[in-house]
Amino acid sequence: MQKAKDGHVDFLVLGSGIAGIRAAIELARHGCVLVLTKGEIFESSTEHAQGGIAVALAEDDEVHLHFDDTLRAGDGLCREEAVRILVEEGPQAIHELIEWGMHFDKNGGKLAFTREGAHSRSRVLHSQGDSTGAGILRALVAKAKKLRRIEIRPHSYAVDLLADSGRIAGVFYLDETTQSLKEIRAGSVLLATGGLGQVYKETTNPPVACGDGVAMAYRAGAYLSDMEFIQFHPTALYIQSAPRFLLSEALRGEGGLLRNIELERFMPRYHEAGELAPRDIVSRALVMEMLRCRSEFNYLDLTGLDAERVMKRFPKIYSTCLAFNIDITLDLIPVRPAAHYAMGGVATDLEGATTLEGLYAAGEAAATGVHGANRLASNSLLEGLVYGARAARAMVEKHGFSDPLPSQASFASAKHIPNHAPAPRTVIAAAELERAACHIRTILWEKVGIIREGNELSEAIQKLDAIELSSPKTPAQPFYQTRNILEVARVIARSAGERKESRGAHYRSDFPLKDELEPARHSYLSRTKPVSFA
Ligand code: FAD
Ligand code: SIN
Repeated sequence: MQKAKDGHVDFLVLGSGIAGIRAAIELARHGCVLVLTKGEIFESSTEHAQGGIAVALAEDDEVHLHFDDTLRAGDGLCREEAVRILVEEGPQAIHELIEWGMHFDKNGGKLAFTREGAHSRSRVLHSQGDSTGAGILRALVAKAKKLRRIEIRPHSYAVDLLADSGRIAGVFYLDETTQSLKEIRAGSVLLATGGLGQVYKETTNPPVACGDGVAMAYRAGAYLSDMEFIQFHPTALYIQSAPRFLLSEALRGEGGLLRNIELERFMPRYHEAGELAPRDIVSRALVMEMLRCRSEFNYLDLTGLDAERVMKRFPKIYSTCLAFNIDITLDLIPVRPAAHYAMGGVATDLEGATTLEGLYAAGEAAATGVHGANRLASNSLLEGLVYGARAARAMVEKHGFSDPLPSQASFASAKHIPNHAPAPRTVIAAAELERAACHIRTILWEKVGIIREGNELSEAIQKLDAIELSSPKTPAQPFYQTRNILEVARVIARSAGERKESRGAHYRSDFPLKDELEPARHSYLSRTKPVSFA
């Protein structure tokens, strides 16, 4: 790729998860694509996705049922056009993936579908049982590697966007192998940097999910949307001082039950769908049971299921738990909720254009409105495929942002973005940064978590505002990451403070009901504009 070597490419993609690689494949038809990604190519949430990918392809399923289920889970906040695109373009996106070499699990020669929470049909495709994301990513990367015009450059940590003549024109990035700051220019830039679970003390997300792309876009002046909506997955493995390994919702789809520490099956008391109620409802029920029973966890019980089937269907979960001395076919599994998914992100229109010219976003970093206030299980891998491809097409067409924003909002201008890399000042010890990150994560977990309240949110905002990070003398990733975590944490807390209602994953004990206003409103904010709703 001659052009990348010259410091310029046609298209720059940040992130090598499902959204970034799918977009790169589309872009390669029209020019040279450079994918910058932090760490190893496969280190992403996509790689860890277990349950599967939702798509209306089963014989008893219909696109309109997938549409209805998505809207219902989104609790009145989904953007209907965005959902329609997702469910209608989804089947074709899956066929394409299969053509590129993806193998989904089958039953008697036919695609096998599993059930997850809030789905009215079994419509979740999976691969090697519980390694769906890893399978999809391998198929996409293999396809991308066959295309001469794509270069994937690992260990390249994007630090900040750079602007030229009022549009986003490239990025400053840290070469992780040499620790040197570099810049690359491009015709347009796609943010596909994934989620932000690492802003919370307890998360299912891998270490790369620090909200970098959202923070970069925010600093550059882009609008963010719906940042208060964080999905907490009900069942993360709870073992003190071990990472919160995800226990797929598909385990409940296959018949797993939730019990409190008194061994009572409690979900039917909370929702008619029991263990398969929408995720926000299950997570809050788990918290209520922990409070009631004064326990730190609940149990997931798979002991009533056929042991052979559990081992075959969930080999990764089985072996991971066994490494912690838990045989999931015999033992109750200690679980509690953990931060899992960001419904909000960088505001985009239906084509992935952000409010900054030249900047596009797709996947978990973007807020298209497709998930509303609570994402339907297994819809995000599909979103990465469908909206990754759409954003790529918009980059080729130079499509600009085309949505209305709140009336007091004006389009941000990229011309104010500093056109230089952040200036290093004082030395800052790694341990000090780690302490700061830990402090931020604890504030978010304790005060901007599953159940929120106005005074606690104000306290969180104050505490976060009081944190100052001095920048290091030499470029250092831990500093950049902690800075991003702090910025994203502040935005989540402020957005949560302003939404004075309970909706989907945003639950306020001081405003336990949904706002009467119809239609429901999305929140927006930018570096220079406070939170507003439209
Ligand atoms: P990611 O896959 O996270 O990729 C982001 C990429 O950006 C990574 O390569 C990362 O290294 C890179 N990056 C980040 N910051 C920078 C930076 N500063 N510079 C350069 N590169 C950067 N969804 C489903 O639909 N079904 C499931 O079964 C499912 N299971 C899940 C299980 C787990 C444990 C987790 C954490 C999530 C799961 N999800 C699932 C959610 C889903 O996996 C993600 O929402 C989706 O994969 C996001 O894709 P993405 O391409 O947007 O981001
Ligand atoms: C899971 O397997 O439970 C995760 C599915 C998702 O996050 O969509």
